[in-house]
Amino acid sequence: MQIFNTEGSCARAFMNRSFVTIADHSREKIEYLIRMAQEFERHPNRLLLQGRVVATLFFEPSTRTRLSFETAANRLGARVIGFADPKVTSGTKGETLKDTIMMVSNYADVIVMRHYLEGAARYASEIAPVPIINAGDGANQHPSQTMLDLYTINQTQGTLDNLNIYLVGDLKYGRTVHSLLMAMRHFNPTFHFIAPDELAMPEPYKQYCSEHGIRYVEHQDFDADVIAGADILYMTRVQRERFTDLMEYERVKDRYLLKLDMLSKARDNMRILHPLPRVNEIEYAIDDDPHAYYFQQARNGLYARQAIICDSLGITLEDIMEDRTII
Ligand code: CP
Repeated sequence: MQIFNTEGSCARAFMNRSFVTIADHSREKIEYLIRMAQEFERHPNRLLLQGRVVATLFFEPSTRTRLSFETAANRLGARVIGFADPKVTSGTKGETLKDTIMMVSNYADVIVMRHYLEGAARYASEIAPVPIINAGDGANQHPSQTMLDLYTINQTQGTLDNLNIYLVGDLKYGRTVHSLLMAMRHFNPTFHFIAPDELAMPEPYKQYCSEHGIRYVEHQDFDADVIAGADILYMTRVQRERFTDLMEYERVKDRYLLKLDMLSKARDNMRILHPLPRVNEIEYAIDDDPHAYYFQQARNGLYARQAIICDSLGITLEDIMEDRTII
């Protein structure tokens, strides 16, 4: 498993403004992107990207990430090319990822790519003459999800600092929790890891916590008393597609399910987040509870991704503040 790249590890990615891992970004940069996203929440429809082309290459299935990136580009006046299913590309004839990336770089100003291989986005950023935005690479990273998660946490808590964040479910393969953990190193969090042994947070991420002074506690129990301490309860899906042994998936898939009665002692400010898709890990009855925030979280993906695309193309917060193209 490739876990992560160290900060500033790829000069070319920085030079061409790729967005590959959240570990590349400082607290200041994260706060800057949040301010940009807030501007887009105020006015999502602008023509800042008129004449630009955004490519979305999805080698793995997606609903939210692809559609919110494409919506972001469309609402900014860009045109979108790409594919949602690699079976319809010349990859099926043997074309390599390198050649695909070089070809699409001929056509688009920025490439948004999801790939099943860990490190694929980093690799693409090292060869592509245009920025690469990582839309998820295997079980490694999902940095645009993290930007929308940070935006949502800030929106619901009024701060990113000093929060108790509970990560529940598939902490082994869950790229969203890996990225979130790394991003939060700037904000003095306390993490609580709740997962079956088979899906526990991998050792390199615990090591990362130790190296960056991030406190964490591991729990076996998942009940009202444990949840009572949470500011953010971040649920995740057990990812069937990552298992080589489906018997193991069957053993662990229903281990940590959130039921409405488990919220009886939750703090008023606590919000339940989930990167989605959900299978059964959050009971549907919770959707109407005031603690549930996962659908608003997904909506924030639009604004966060508008900010990421603009930043990758060199459009600044100042440009956005002075923008006169609001529709
Ligand atoms: N959260 C997320 O990545 O969802 P999709 O797989 O639907 O893009």
